[in-house]
Amino acid sequence: MAKNKAHKRLLNNLKPDRYKLIIHPDFKDHTFRGEEVIFLTLKRPTKKIVLHSVNLKISDVYFKNLKTAQTSTLYDISYSVEQETITLNFARVCKKGQGELFLKFVGKLSDDMRGFYKSRYNHNGKEKFLATTQFESTDARRAFPCIDEPEAKAVFDVTMIVPRHHEAISNTMPIKIGEHLPAEASGQAGYKVVEFAPTPKMSTYLLAFISGEMESVEGKNKDGVLVRVFTTHGKKKQAEFALEVGKKSLEFYGKYFGIKYPLPVLDMIAIPDFASGAMENWGAVTYRESALLVDPDHTAAEDRQWVALVIAHELAHQWFGNLVTMKWWTDLWLNEGFASYIEYLAIDNIFPKWQIWKQFVSRELGIALRLDSLATTHPIEVPVNHPNEISEIFDAVSYSKGAVVIRMIAEYLGERDFQKGLSLYLKRHSYGNAETKDLWQALEEVSGKPVGKIMADWTKQSGYPILSVHKTGKGFEFNQSRFFMSPISRKSSKDKTLWNVPVIWQNKSRKVRRELFSKHFGRLNGFSGGKLNFGETSLIRVDYPESILKNIENLKLPAVDRLGLIRDSFALAESGQSPTTLALNLIESYKNEKEYVVWVEISGGLGRLAQVFSEESFSDRIKELRRLTFSPLAKKLGWNPKRGEPFTNAMLRDMALWEAGANGDKTIIDEAKKQFTLYIKKGKAPHKDIRGAVYLIIAKCGGKKEFAQLTKFYKEARLSDEKNRIGEALGAFNDKNLLNKALNFSLSKAVRPQDLFSIFRSVARNSKGRLLAWQFVRKNWQKFIKIYGAGGHIISKVIEPLGSISDRRVADEIEGFFKKQKSVGVERTVSQILELIRAKAEWRNRESKNIEKWLIERT
Ligand code: BES
Ligand code: ZN
Repeated sequence: MAKNKAHKRLLNNLKPDRYKLIIHPDFKDHTFRGEEVIFLTLKRPTKKIVLHSVNLKISDVYFKNLKTAQTSTLYDISYSVEQETITLNFARVCKKGQGELFLKFVGKLSDDMRGFYKSRYNHNGKEKFLATTQFESTDARRAFPCIDEPEAKAVFDVTMIVPRHHEAISNTMPIKIGEHLPAEASGQAGYKVVEFAPTPKMSTYLLAFISGEMESVEGKNKDGVLVRVFTTHGKKKQAEFALEVGKKSLEFYGKYFGIKYPLPVLDMIAIPDFASGAMENWGAVTYRESALLVDPDHTAAEDRQWVALVIAHELAHQWFGNLVTMKWWTDLWLNEGFASYIEYLAIDNIFPKWQIWKQFVSRELGIALRLDSLATTHPIEVPVNHPNEISEIFDAVSYSKGAVVIRMIAEYLGERDFQKGLSLYLKRHSYGNAETKDLWQALEEVSGKPVGKIMADWTKQSGYPILSVHKTGKGFEFNQSRFFMSPISRKSSKDKTLWNVPVIWQNKSRKVRRELFSKHFGRLNGFSGGKLNFGETSLIRVDYPESILKNIENLKLPAVDRLGLIRDSFALAESGQSPTTLALNLIESYKNEKEYVVWVEISGGLGRLAQVFSEESFSDRIKELRRLTFSPLAKKLGWNPKRGEPFTNAMLRDMALWEAGANGDKTIIDEAKKQFTLYIKKGKAPHKDIRGAVYLIIAKCGGKKEFAQLTKFYKEARLSDEKNRIGEALGAFNDKNLLNKALNFSLSKAVRPQDLFSIFRSVARNSKGRLLAWQFVRKNWQKFIKIYGAGGHIISKVIEPLGSISDRRVADEIEGFFKKQKSVGVERTVSQILELIRAKAEWRNRESKNIEKWLIERT
């Protein structure tokens, strides 16, 4: 694939202090016009000024020196598509020092969900449009010329000219609303002029402006901050939950960081078309509908929990990211890793019954352990330059590994010092920029511990270690080495990386012991058996000899440690360091397990096994094993919520029913069919928390008729979680024709481009559908680039799920195809799935026989 050209940084030449910006979307021809004054400081006299700008037509440019009032008129403009800049060449020199740059511009409201774009929706049978922004990382330049770099912080005075019946929303509150008096009869009557208060000093990527017909709910929190939640018409009832979580999250962070939320108002807006989950624009946070809206009758517990986590994540950014911003995108992880950690702390505080930290271990740590086990991963701190490279690092390394590493240091320092250090860091760098080392510095200052030295291992090096435990005559010995999921990568690697590993365990009297282990070989003081990585707080895996593992199984371990054992034993099986049958034996000892997170791990392990060995003659036996594993659980839990049960039972029930039903449990299939028929005939929907399972079972066991019914439901659904739920079911059919139909449906008018992925992912993970999914990507690649934009981080979402393929020849095909494509910011994702696929093919070769033998004995 072609390499990206380096992009020049612009902040070196001039420093913007303030932008006065008038933005005028035109909903008739889907364009926008703008006027801009940039108050700036020129570092030296110059005849040319370079600004970031993409797809904007510029006019009426001149420059005025503030001291002398001398103006420079424009000579000409050159546009660089490659560098995403405009160069304004002046007729005579612009003097150094403070000055004002005037310009006007026009652009198109785009369709690709970035820059200033339009979103389409229906209300009462009428097609409607709203206009909104998505600037992170480098798309503010698509809405107005600017120095589009996080370090170029400035104050923004935004004025919007919008249709009179629209809501105009930006980062701050309106200070003046007037009538728009167009110069002549230009078809622009009926617009109003809304002037907003100046923003705090902030980065361009956090600016937002939105114009649309909206309704809202609002309330003040205990600190007097007004929180408002906006939706398109008819949906404000679904905004109540978000309002509560928003209010409480701000209170929590205000206290935790020791800094009050600095704006008087926080707006949260649900946008019908939205590329990612949500965006933390300061004071005007935007969300896709499924990440903000909750319908009390139809939204499942899991989706409600997701909404809470997303809100807590975005609101954390109001401090970590907005108040203090990374200097450059290399430190993106500071934003995303931190927010992905602290969202759990906030939610644990607001909803203690959810026991959300257990899910942190199951999700974030699980994701980090998987992605970072590849040779094709990257260090958390990674040099990036071109916008494509920047969008590429919005990945699980920045988010999940980042979050895990933060949790590791929080655990190492203890709650109090950690919190104090954060507060110091935020206060010290408020309204400014920071780098990773600045955070370590603050934590070191309050704790007196060598934070920087330990953490450098985790943020500057790729991967993580596996600790192997050996029993010798003299007790236990340990060795650490980098863990590779792929045996091919492990064998070809000469990696000798070492980490400072915080190792935690519980000794015989249940006292928690800690030690920093930093050698290739060594001992742990006072370790006398038991499970390592107690609480699963370190980013490591542990390999125990079978004899020790047996002893550990018999201990009464907390849920996260039980799940850790299963996770590591499956990973060791996949990587060829331990037989798969050992992991299967381990699962057998979990028959009476009650905890959701542990079952998630069991389901994941067996699910992967089914995927990888789906073409082997014994694949039906895996299905049988899954049914035998989950049917008893499903029967125990039943179809309806029980009073007083743990919150996570709602999710456990859905999973158990689906696993049992999809793997052939007759009684469960019959009940799912009954409930589905009742829904069709009488309109009585299955309970919200198990509706997903019903749809999936119906699809798995269904044919043409069910497919038609589900697509009909999809089109009729108003709630976007409901659409996602059905979309996922569309990918679960067995019949290849129907799976192809599902793929084509995902590209049809009935499915928003933002929602294609839930259908696609489901087909790609279905062993009957994964090759079809790959063919679909190959055939439509150019179309995807057109819809999602080259370089957008979204496009990698159609590649990631292909990692479920386990056929070496297909890996070669994928490799060949992408070699021929232009660079669009998916290089790393492609090499990652190739590594995964080849590792899986290897697993098949290596273990099919042994697994078959084990299965014949058990099923
Ligand atoms: N800053 C991101 C939004 C974003 C993502 C912008 C990718 C540009 C590229 C936001 O804070 C975020 O991380 N959103 C997550 C949700 C979160 C709960 C993990 C998302 O959109 O997936
Ligand atoms: Zn984020």
